[in-house]
Amino acid sequence: MRWGILGAARIAAQAVVPALREAGDQVVVMGSRDLRRGRAAAAQMGIPMAVEGYQAVLEQDLDAIYVPLPNSLHRPWVLAALASGKHVLCEKPLGLTAREAGEMAAAAQRAHLVLAEAVMYRYHPRWQLIMDLVHSGELGAVRQLSGGFSFRLRPPPDVRWEADLGGGALYDVGSYLINAARWVVGRDPERAVALAIPRRGVDESTSVLLEFASGPGTAATLAALSCGFATVGSEWLRIEGDQAVLSVPKPFTAWHEERPPILVDSPLGQRLIDSPAADPYLEMVTAFGRAVEALAPVQTSAEDAIGTLAVIDACRASWLSGSWQDLEARRPEA
Ligand SMILES: NC(=O)c1ccc[n+]([C@@H]2O[C@H](COP(=O)([O-])OP(=O)(O)OC[C@H]3O[C@@H](n4cnc5c(N)ncnc54)[C@H](OP(=O)(O)O)[C@@H]3O)[C@@H](O)[C@H]2O)c1
Repeated sequence: MRWGILGAARIAAQAVVPALREAGDQVVVMGSRDLRRGRAAAAQMGIPMAVEGYQAVLEQDLDAIYVPLPNSLHRPWVLAALASGKHVLCEKPLGLTAREAGEMAAAAQRAHLVLAEAVMYRYHPRWQLIMDLVHSGELGAVRQLSGGFSFRLRPPPDVRWEADLGGGALYDVGSYLINAARWVVGRDPERAVALAIPRRGVDESTSVLLEFASGPGTAATLAALSCGFATVGSEWLRIEGDQAVLSVPKPFTAWHEERPPILVDSPLGQRLIDSPAADPYLEMVTAFGRAVEALAPVQTSAEDAIGTLAVIDACRASWLSGSWQDLEARRPEA
Protein backbone atom coordinates (compact mmCIF):
# COMPACT_ATOMS: atom_id res chain seq x y z
CA MET A 1 0.00 0.00 0.00
CA ARG A 2 1.00 3.59 -0.58
CA TRP A 3 0.72 5.70 2.59
CA GLY A 4 0.66 9.40 3.40
CA ILE A 5 1.32 10.72 6.92
CA LEU A 6 -0.29 13.83 8.42
CA GLY A 7 2.17 15.63 10.73
CA ALA A 8 5.74 14.99 11.86
CA ALA A 9 4.59 13.27 15.04
CA ARG A 10 6.89 11.43 17.43
CA ILE A 11 4.80 8.26 17.32
CA ALA A 12 5.06 8.18 13.52
CA ALA A 13 8.85 8.38 13.65
CA GLN A 14 9.31 6.01 16.59
CA ALA A 15 6.91 3.23 15.78
CA VAL A 16 4.42 3.43 12.92
CA VAL A 17 6.54 4.47 9.93
CA PRO A 18 9.17 1.77 10.69
CA ALA A 19 6.35 -0.78 11.09
CA LEU A 20 4.76 0.20 7.75
CA ARG A 21 8.09 -0.22 6.04
CA GLU A 22 8.70 -3.58 7.70
CA ALA A 23 5.25 -4.69 6.55
CA GLY A 24 6.35 -4.01 2.96
CA ASP A 25 4.26 -0.87 2.47
CA GLN A 26 5.52 2.36 0.91
CA VAL A 27 5.45 5.56 2.93
CA VAL A 28 5.30 8.05 0.09
CA VAL A 29 4.65 11.49 1.56
CA MET A 30 4.50 13.43 4.81
CA GLY A 31 2.58 16.68 5.30
CA SER A 32 3.60 19.23 7.88
CA ARG A 33 2.37 22.68 8.91
CA ASP A 34 5.96 23.82 8.41
CA LEU A 35 7.54 22.62 5.16
CA ARG A 36 11.12 23.02 6.40
CA ARG A 37 10.46 20.96 9.51
CA GLY A 38 8.44 18.51 7.43
CA ARG A 39 11.32 18.05 4.99
CA ALA A 40 13.76 17.42 7.83
CA ALA A 41 11.41 14.94 9.53
CA ALA A 42 10.65 13.16 6.24
CA ALA A 43 14.37 12.84 5.50
CA GLN A 44 14.96 11.41 8.97
CA MET A 45 12.17 8.86 8.49
CA GLY A 46 13.29 8.01 4.94
CA ILE A 47 10.09 9.40 3.38
CA PRO A 48 10.83 10.64 -0.16
CA MET A 49 8.40 13.57 -0.30
CA ALA A 50 7.32 16.32 2.11
CA VAL A 51 4.51 18.78 1.40
CA GLU A 52 3.16 21.83 3.19
CA GLY A 53 -0.08 21.22 5.06
CA TYR A 54 -2.22 18.12 5.29
CA GLN A 55 -4.63 18.72 2.39
CA ALA A 56 -1.69 18.47 -0.03
CA VAL A 57 -1.12 14.89 1.22
CA LEU A 58 -4.73 13.94 0.54
CA GLU A 59 -4.35 15.15 -3.06
CA GLN A 60 -1.62 12.54 -3.79
CA ASP A 61 -2.16 9.12 -5.35
CA LEU A 62 -2.29 7.01 -2.16
CA ASP A 63 -4.17 4.05 -0.70
CA ALA A 64 -4.14 5.00 2.97
CA ILE A 65 -3.54 7.86 5.38
CA TYR A 66 -2.08 7.65 8.90
CA VAL A 67 -3.36 10.39 11.25
CA PRO A 68 -1.06 10.94 14.28
CA LEU A 69 -2.28 14.50 14.94
CA PRO A 70 -3.32 15.96 18.32
CA ASN A 71 -6.61 14.39 19.46
CA SER A 72 -8.85 17.37 18.62
CA LEU A 73 -7.67 17.23 14.97
CA HIS A 74 -8.53 13.56 14.46
CA ARG A 75 -12.17 14.16 13.48
CA PRO A 76 -11.64 16.87 10.81
CA TRP A 77 -8.68 15.11 9.19
CA VAL A 78 -10.16 11.62 9.31
CA LEU A 79 -13.29 12.98 7.60
CA ALA A 80 -11.17 14.83 5.01
CA ALA A 81 -9.03 11.73 4.35
CA LEU A 82 -12.13 9.55 3.89
CA ALA A 83 -13.63 12.19 1.59
CA SER A 84 -10.47 11.95 -0.55
CA GLY A 85 -11.14 8.21 -0.99
CA LYS A 86 -8.36 6.82 1.22
CA HIS A 87 -8.44 4.20 3.96
CA VAL A 88 -7.49 5.66 7.35
CA LEU A 89 -5.49 4.52 10.35
CA CYS A 90 -6.03 7.14 13.08
CA GLU A 91 -4.27 7.41 16.41
CA LYS A 92 -6.13 6.79 19.65
CA PRO A 93 -8.50 8.12 20.85
CA LEU A 94 -10.34 8.16 17.52
CA GLY A 95 -12.18 11.35 18.51
CA LEU A 96 -13.02 13.43 21.54
CA THR A 97 -16.55 12.07 21.99
CA ALA A 98 -18.64 9.05 21.02
CA ARG A 99 -20.61 11.34 18.73
CA GLU A 100 -17.43 12.27 16.81
CA ALA A 101 -16.45 8.60 16.49
CA GLY A 102 -19.98 7.79 15.28
CA GLU A 103 -19.71 10.47 12.61
CA MET A 104 -16.37 9.06 11.42
CA ALA A 105 -17.67 5.46 11.47
CA ALA A 106 -20.67 6.48 9.35
CA ALA A 107 -18.46 8.34 6.85
CA ALA A 108 -16.18 5.29 6.44
CA GLN A 109 -19.15 2.99 6.01
CA ARG A 110 -20.73 5.24 3.37
CA ALA A 111 -17.45 5.40 1.45
CA HIS A 112 -16.71 1.63 1.81
CA LEU A 113 -13.32 2.46 3.29
CA VAL A 114 -11.46 0.96 6.25
CA LEU A 115 -11.16 3.20 9.30
CA ALA A 116 -9.18 1.83 12.24
CA GLU A 117 -8.15 3.28 15.60
CA ALA A 118 -4.44 2.66 16.24
CA VAL A 119 -4.88 0.87 19.59
CA MET A 120 -1.75 -1.17 18.98
CA TYR A 121 -1.73 -3.27 22.18
CA ARG A 122 -4.79 -5.18 20.91
CA TYR A 123 -2.59 -6.75 18.22
CA HIS A 124 0.19 -7.94 20.52
CA PRO A 125 0.17 -11.78 20.51
CA ARG A 126 0.44 -11.85 24.33
CA TRP A 127 -3.12 -10.46 24.37
CA GLN A 128 -4.24 -13.52 22.45
CA LEU A 129 -2.86 -15.58 25.37
CA ILE A 130 -4.61 -13.33 27.90
CA MET A 131 -7.97 -13.49 26.12
CA ASP A 132 -7.63 -17.27 25.63
CA LEU A 133 -7.12 -17.58 29.40
CA VAL A 134 -10.15 -15.38 30.16
CA HIS A 135 -12.30 -17.44 27.77
CA SER A 136 -10.90 -20.80 28.93
CA GLY A 137 -12.84 -20.61 32.18
CA GLU A 138 -9.66 -20.98 34.29
CA LEU A 139 -10.39 -17.65 36.02
CA GLY A 140 -14.07 -18.50 36.49
CA ALA A 141 -16.40 -15.53 36.19
CA VAL A 142 -14.52 -12.22 35.95
CA ARG A 143 -15.97 -10.16 38.82
CA GLN A 144 -13.40 -7.41 39.31
CA LEU A 145 -10.84 -5.74 37.14
CA SER A 146 -8.31 -3.11 38.15
CA GLY A 147 -5.58 -1.31 36.30
CA GLY A 148 -3.33 1.69 36.12
CA PHE A 149 -1.40 3.54 33.45
CA SER A 150 0.58 6.54 34.62
CA PHE A 151 3.86 8.28 33.93
CA ARG A 152 5.46 11.63 34.66
CA LEU A 153 4.73 13.88 31.68
CA ARG A 154 7.41 16.47 30.97
CA PRO A 155 6.39 20.13 31.49
CA PRO A 156 4.79 22.03 28.55
CA PRO A 157 5.06 22.37 25.64
CA ASP A 158 3.40 19.03 24.95
CA VAL A 159 0.08 18.48 23.15
CA ARG A 160 -1.04 16.38 26.13
CA TRP A 161 -1.09 19.50 28.34
CA GLU A 162 -3.28 21.41 25.85
CA ALA A 163 -7.01 21.26 26.65
CA ASP A 164 -7.92 22.72 23.25
CA LEU A 165 -6.03 19.92 21.50
CA GLY A 166 -7.72 17.13 23.48
CA GLY A 167 -5.02 16.78 26.14
CA GLY A 168 -5.28 15.13 29.53
CA ALA A 169 -4.56 11.74 31.07
CA LEU A 170 -7.99 10.18 30.47
CA TYR A 171 -7.76 10.63 26.69
CA ASP A 172 -4.05 9.80 26.53
CA VAL A 173 -3.66 6.72 28.74
CA GLY A 174 -7.02 6.17 30.45
CA SER A 175 -8.43 5.29 27.03
CA TYR A 176 -6.22 2.14 26.98
CA LEU A 177 -7.57 1.01 30.36
CA ILE A 178 -11.19 1.58 29.33
CA ASN A 179 -10.58 -0.18 26.02
CA ALA A 180 -9.09 -3.19 27.83
CA ALA A 181 -11.85 -3.34 30.48
CA ARG A 182 -14.57 -3.42 27.77
CA TRP A 183 -12.65 -6.04 25.78
CA VAL A 184 -11.95 -8.36 28.73
CA VAL A 185 -15.43 -8.13 30.21
CA GLY A 186 -16.91 -8.52 26.72
CA ARG A 187 -19.58 -5.86 27.01
CA ASP A 188 -20.06 -2.18 27.72
CA PRO A 189 -20.43 -0.90 31.27
CA GLU A 190 -23.82 0.26 32.39
CA ARG A 191 -22.56 3.23 34.38
CA ALA A 192 -19.38 5.13 35.26
CA VAL A 193 -18.13 7.54 37.87
CA ALA A 194 -14.82 9.44 37.72
CA LEU A 195 -12.77 11.85 39.78
CA ALA A 196 -9.98 14.02 38.34
CA ILE A 197 -7.17 16.17 39.66
CA PRO A 198 -6.94 19.09 37.22
CA ARG A 199 -3.67 20.80 36.28
CA ARG A 200 -2.94 23.30 33.53
CA GLY A 201 -6.53 22.96 32.27
CA VAL A 202 -6.49 19.17 31.75
CA ASP A 203 -6.91 16.15 34.03
CA GLU A 204 -3.45 15.40 35.37
CA SER A 205 -4.84 12.29 37.07
CA THR A 206 -8.17 10.50 36.81
CA SER A 207 -9.67 7.54 38.67
CA VAL A 208 -12.65 5.73 37.21
CA LEU A 209 -15.14 3.13 38.48
CA LEU A 210 -17.17 1.18 35.93
CA GLU A 211 -20.10 -1.10 36.62
CA PHE A 212 -20.80 -3.86 34.12
CA ALA A 213 -24.26 -5.02 35.10
CA SER A 214 -25.22 -8.67 35.49
CA GLY A 215 -27.26 -10.33 32.76
CA PRO A 216 -28.68 -13.78 32.09
CA GLY A 217 -25.80 -16.15 32.93
CA THR A 218 -23.34 -13.28 33.59
CA ALA A 219 -22.35 -11.88 36.95
CA ALA A 220 -21.89 -8.16 37.55
CA THR A 221 -18.31 -6.89 37.23
CA LEU A 222 -16.64 -3.81 38.67
CA ALA A 223 -13.58 -2.10 37.16
CA ALA A 224 -11.36 0.39 39.05
CA LEU A 225 -8.94 2.21 36.76
CA SER A 226 -6.42 5.00 37.38
CA CYS A 227 -4.34 7.04 34.98
CA GLY A 228 -2.15 10.09 35.22
CA PHE A 229 0.78 12.27 34.28
CA ALA A 230 2.14 12.71 37.81
CA THR A 231 3.88 9.54 38.93
CA VAL A 232 6.82 7.41 37.90
CA GLY A 233 5.93 5.03 35.08
CA SER A 234 3.46 2.36 36.16
CA GLU A 235 1.33 0.17 33.96
CA TRP A 236 -0.60 -2.89 35.15
CA LEU A 237 -3.85 -4.83 34.91
CA ARG A 238 -5.45 -7.39 37.24
CA ILE A 239 -8.32 -9.53 36.04
CA GLU A 240 -9.98 -11.16 39.05
CA GLY A 241 -12.22 -14.17 38.56
CA ASP A 242 -14.02 -16.26 41.17
CA GLN A 243 -11.51 -19.10 40.51
CA ALA A 244 -8.20 -17.35 39.75
CA VAL A 245 -6.58 -13.96 39.24
CA LEU A 246 -4.54 -12.88 36.24
CA SER A 247 -1.88 -10.18 36.71
CA VAL A 248 -0.56 -8.52 33.57
CA PRO A 249 2.48 -6.25 33.92
CA LYS A 250 2.99 -3.69 31.17
CA PRO A 251 -0.29 -4.61 29.44
CA PHE A 252 -0.14 -1.85 26.83
CA THR A 253 3.41 -0.94 25.83
CA ALA A 254 5.41 -4.20 25.86
CA TRP A 255 7.38 -3.96 22.65
CA HIS A 256 10.02 -5.92 20.75
CA GLU A 257 12.10 -7.95 23.23
CA GLU A 258 10.15 -6.87 26.33
CA ARG A 259 8.46 -10.04 27.56
CA PRO A 260 6.92 -9.39 31.01
CA PRO A 261 5.50 -12.73 32.20
CA ILE A 262 1.79 -13.01 33.00
CA LEU A 263 0.91 -14.46 36.43
CA VAL A 264 -2.05 -16.77 37.10
CA ASP A 265 -2.76 -17.03 40.82
CA SER A 266 -5.31 -19.46 42.25
CA PRO A 267 -5.84 -21.45 45.45
CA LEU A 268 -4.08 -24.31 43.60
CA GLY A 269 -0.88 -22.28 43.21
CA GLN A 270 0.83 -19.81 40.93
CA ARG A 271 1.76 -20.18 37.27
CA LEU A 272 3.89 -17.84 35.16
CA ILE A 273 3.13 -17.61 31.47
CA ASP A 274 5.81 -16.38 29.07
CA SER A 275 4.99 -13.40 26.91
CA PRO A 276 6.08 -13.67 23.29
CA ALA A 277 8.33 -10.93 21.87
CA ALA A 278 6.57 -8.88 19.20
CA ASP A 279 6.14 -5.48 17.60
CA PRO A 280 2.43 -4.66 18.12
CA TYR A 281 2.68 -1.76 15.63
CA LEU A 282 3.81 -4.19 12.93
CA GLU A 283 1.00 -6.59 13.85
CA MET A 284 -1.46 -3.66 13.72
CA VAL A 285 -0.45 -2.37 10.27
CA THR A 286 -0.40 -5.94 8.94
CA ALA A 287 -3.96 -6.44 10.22
CA PHE A 288 -4.93 -3.10 8.66
CA GLY A 289 -3.58 -4.30 5.31
CA ARG A 290 -5.65 -7.48 5.61
CA ALA A 291 -8.76 -5.40 6.34
CA VAL A 292 -8.12 -3.27 3.24
CA GLU A 293 -7.85 -6.45 1.18
CA ALA A 294 -11.19 -7.43 2.79
CA LEU A 295 -9.58 -10.56 4.21
CA ALA A 296 -10.61 -9.81 7.81
CA PRO A 297 -12.55 -7.15 9.69
CA VAL A 298 -10.39 -4.70 11.59
CA GLN A 299 -10.33 -5.40 15.32
CA THR A 300 -9.94 -1.81 16.53
CA SER A 301 -12.81 -0.52 14.46
CA ALA A 302 -14.47 2.87 14.64
CA GLU A 303 -17.48 1.07 16.14
CA ASP A 304 -15.28 -0.22 18.98
CA ALA A 305 -13.93 3.32 19.48
CA ILE A 306 -17.50 4.57 19.92
CA GLY A 307 -17.86 2.24 22.93
CA THR A 308 -14.63 3.46 24.55
CA LEU A 309 -15.47 7.12 23.89
CA ALA A 310 -18.98 6.68 25.33
CA VAL A 311 -17.30 5.67 28.60
CA ILE A 312 -14.91 8.66 28.34
CA ASP A 313 -17.92 10.95 27.73
CA ALA A 314 -19.55 9.56 30.89
CA CYS A 315 -16.34 10.03 32.91
CA ARG A 316 -16.01 13.63 31.76
CA ALA A 317 -19.64 14.33 32.65
CA SER A 318 -19.05 12.70 36.03
CA TRP A 319 -16.09 15.04 36.74
CA LEU A 320 -18.55 17.94 36.53
CA SER A 321 -21.59 16.39 38.20
CA GLY A 322 -19.77 14.33 40.82
CA SER A 323 -22.26 11.53 40.24
CA TRP A 324 -22.64 8.21 38.41
CA GLN A 325 -23.45 8.54 34.71
CA ASP A 326 -25.58 6.05 32.77
CA LEU A 327 -23.92 4.82 29.58
CA GLU A 328 -27.05 3.79 27.72
CA ALA A 329 -28.08 7.39 27.16
CA ARG A 330 -24.63 8.28 25.79
CA ARG A 331 -24.23 5.99 22.78
CA PRO A 332 -24.89 7.90 19.55
CA GLU A 333 -27.60 6.46 17.33
CA ALA A 334 -26.30 3.97 14.75
N1 LIG B 1 -0.43 4.35 19.74
C1 LIG B 1 0.58 4.81 20.47
O1 LIG B 1 1.43 4.07 20.92
C2 LIG B 1 0.70 6.30 20.70
C3 LIG B 1 1.80 6.81 21.38
C4 LIG B 1 1.91 8.20 21.51
C5 LIG B 1 0.94 9.03 21.00
N2 LIG B 1 -0.15 8.48 20.37
C6 LIG B 1 -1.20 9.33 19.79
O2 LIG B 1 -0.64 9.93 18.62
C7 LIG B 1 -1.11 11.26 18.46
C8 LIG B 1 0.10 12.18 18.39
O3 LIG B 1 0.86 12.05 19.55
P1 LIG B 1 2.43 12.42 19.58
O4 LIG B 1 2.86 12.30 21.00
O5 LIG B 1 3.17 11.68 18.55
O6 LIG B 1 2.32 13.97 19.22
P2 LIG B 1 3.40 15.00 18.67
O7 LIG B 1 4.78 14.40 18.61
O8 LIG B 1 3.21 16.25 19.45
O9 LIG B 1 2.94 15.18 17.15
C9 LIG B 1 1.73 15.70 16.78
C10 LIG B 1 1.92 16.35 15.40
O10 LIG B 1 0.71 16.99 15.06
C11 LIG B 1 0.97 18.12 14.27
N3 LIG B 1 0.17 19.26 14.79
C12 LIG B 1 -0.86 19.84 14.15
N4 LIG B 1 -1.38 20.84 14.85
C13 LIG B 1 -0.65 20.92 15.99
C14 LIG B 1 -0.70 21.79 17.11
N5 LIG B 1 -1.60 22.78 17.22
N6 LIG B 1 0.20 21.60 18.09
C15 LIG B 1 1.12 20.61 18.01
N7 LIG B 1 1.21 19.76 16.95
C16 LIG B 1 0.33 19.92 15.95
C17 LIG B 1 2.46 18.39 14.34
O11 LIG B 1 2.99 18.06 13.07
P3 LIG B 1 3.49 19.18 12.01
O12 LIG B 1 3.93 20.37 12.81
O13 LIG B 1 4.58 18.49 11.30
O14 LIG B 1 2.31 19.49 11.14
C18 LIG B 1 2.98 17.43 15.38
O15 LIG B 1 4.23 16.91 15.04
C19 LIG B 1 -2.06 11.51 19.63
O16 LIG B 1 -3.37 11.23 19.21
C20 LIG B 1 -1.65 10.47 20.67
O17 LIG B 1 -2.73 10.07 21.50
C21 LIG B 1 -0.26 7.13 20.21
